[in-house]
Amino acid sequence: MRILGIETSCDETGIAVYDSELGLLSHTLFSQVGIHAEFGGVVPELASRDHVRKTIPLIKAALLEANCSAADIHGVAYTAGPGLIGALLVGAMVGQSIGFAWNVPAIPVHHMEGHLLAPMLEKGAPAFPFLALLVSGGHTQLIKVEKIGSYEILGESLDDAVGEAFDKTAKLLGLGYPGGAALAALAEKGRSDRFYFPRPMIDRPGLDFSFSGIKTFAVNAVARAGNDEATRADIARAFQDAVVETLTIKCRRALELTGLKRLVVAGGVGANLALRENLKIMTAKNNAEVYFPRHEFCTDNGAMIAYAGCQRLLAGHKNNLSVKVHPRWEMQAIEA
Ligand code: KG4
Ligand code: ZN
Repeated sequence: MRILGIETSCDETGIAVYDSELGLLSHTLFSQVGIHAEFGGVVPELASRDHVRKTIPLIKAALLEANCSAADIHGVAYTAGPGLIGALLVGAMVGQSIGFAWNVPAIPVHHMEGHLLAPMLEKGAPAFPFLALLVSGGHTQLIKVEKIGSYEILGESLDDAVGEAFDKTAKLLGLGYPGGAALAALAEKGRSDRFYFPRPMIDRPGLDFSFSGIKTFAVNAVARAGNDEATRADIARAFQDAVVETLTIKCRRALELTGLKRLVVAGGVGANLALRENLKIMTAKNNAEVYFPRHEFCTDNGAMIAYAGCQRLLAGHKNNLSVKVHPRWEMQAIEA
């Protein structure tokens, strides 16, 4: 089965062709970062308009790269939520229209399910069941995954998502938007023994997170110590150390509580090297294994949507021709 995947939930247009036998045949991506940078965040209307411009040309490019035509495609998968409503509507309209024109099913996909299944695109993909740490710009969740479609949220952030905390702290340090990767690069140059930021909620039982307080520590540190290059690097380091250790402690606790031995990390913050390193060490000590998608499939992409849509079609999901998107959408509400 060969599926065209369309991702337009936020500020990246991602298109891919995935084949259930041969694997990923092509993927293309256009990032709108340059369009939104001057506004310090994503401008929804500009995002929708650019998806309108890019989606069809990128689909053509992905088909060409996969060396296939419309006749070779058995279904179209598009992100139906969560995300920006206008941006989602572009992908949904294009997906449903292509499905109708090519007479193949068009399948709505949950964006976070896409992220969660992204490690399945790699060689040596994890077997079910597993624990998933989803860390993106809008979500921080620990999820027990029994099988595709069976997702139990064990814990989540009560306030800011990790990616959001990275982005806000990066902005404070003058690193632009989205600044997660830039903050991580700056942290590499910083000292870990100059500032100490708290590890929120680790002494409370349970698996929930809170990241809005760490940001306040960054604000106070800047006010106290100044904003020279070395200080900014030390603050970035203290912030990243605190976030990484907090996530690692909660992952270890979740593995212990569930008895699971496989941990899957997904979402944009999964690209963070310090987080990857710490989770590798922690899982090795606990006789568990950790799985990551390749760097480019941590952040938004079409490949994860094509993969998730393919699994849904293989599981017998049908098309209903309605263009319905869900700006807010709980993962537990997905049909199994
Ligand atoms: O998954 P994603 O592309 O979009 C959402 O679905 O939200 O995640 C984007 C988030 C942003 O907050 C970005 O700053 C963060 O992932 N991010 C990183 C890194 N690369 C991207 N955060 C920390 N370290 C990184 N290397
Ligand atoms: Zn995402």
